[in-house]
Amino acid sequence: MSTHNRGAQSYFDKVPAEWDALYAHENRLQYRINRLLRPGLYARHDFTFEQAGQIEGARVLDIGCGTGRFSIEFAKRGAAQVVGIDFAPHMVDFSRAIAQRMQVAERCSFICGDFMTHQFEQPFDIIIAMGLFDYIREPQPMFTKIAQLTRRVFIGSFPRFSLLWGLQRHVRYYWIRKCPIYNYTRPQLEQLYQTAPFGKLTLVQQRHGFLGAAARA
Ligand SMILES: C[S@@+](CC[C@H](N)C(=O)[O-])C[C@H]1O[C@@H](n2cnc3c(N)ncnc32)[C@H](O)[C@@H]1O
Repeated sequence: MSTHNRGAQSYFDKVPAEWDALYAHENRLQYRINRLLRPGLYARHDFTFEQAGQIEGARVLDIGCGTGRFSIEFAKRGAAQVVGIDFAPHMVDFSRAIAQRMQVAERCSFICGDFMTHQFEQPFDIIIAMGLFDYIREPQPMFTKIAQLTRRVFIGSFPRFSLLWGLQRHVRYYWIRKCPIYNYTRPQLEQLYQTAPFGKLTLVQQRHGFLGAAARA
């Protein structure tokens, strides 16, 4: 089953450089400014590496990898094999180039494709989906496929609607860029995790969304 969001695919395919600039660790000043202006983005990063458990030797899947910053960080922290998948071709090109530059390309592979239709041959110890579920109209089949592929832990981020932030995102993404976005509530997320199924769940509410880490059931 495909959850293909063509608006998201065409939007993200045009913006790899702009997106990647949010993570520009190489420039300390820009990095500090981004951390101040985009606390949610950096909270995702901190949460991911707090919840991942042992990274050394792990097989990791990064769904909706964007420019691969999370994938590359897993490889730098000793993951044996990292697979990033994204359906925006220019995002994937960018990921490959950064992995080469950071000298972790031999442990990273990047697939251009839709997570829901790609066939994976083996499961993963750690699966992450950061900033992905914002663009998923039907999350349950995706949760189920993730649960089937997870050996140890699945870590994800989910936006929640709030009047000001939710509305301005709707205008920015849907009205201007024709890219629909989807929000989540705590009961809905608890149901999604339970049905997948996953085991022990840590679900943390943030200003604009939730961060979840769930063990395989
Ligand atoms: C907001 S970006 C997040 C990128 C990265 N995870 C990060 O946090 O920096 C979301 C990415 O998900 C990708 N995406 C959305 N739906 C997807 C799907 N079904 N399969 C693969 N990639 C998808 C988009 O192309 C986009 O690059």
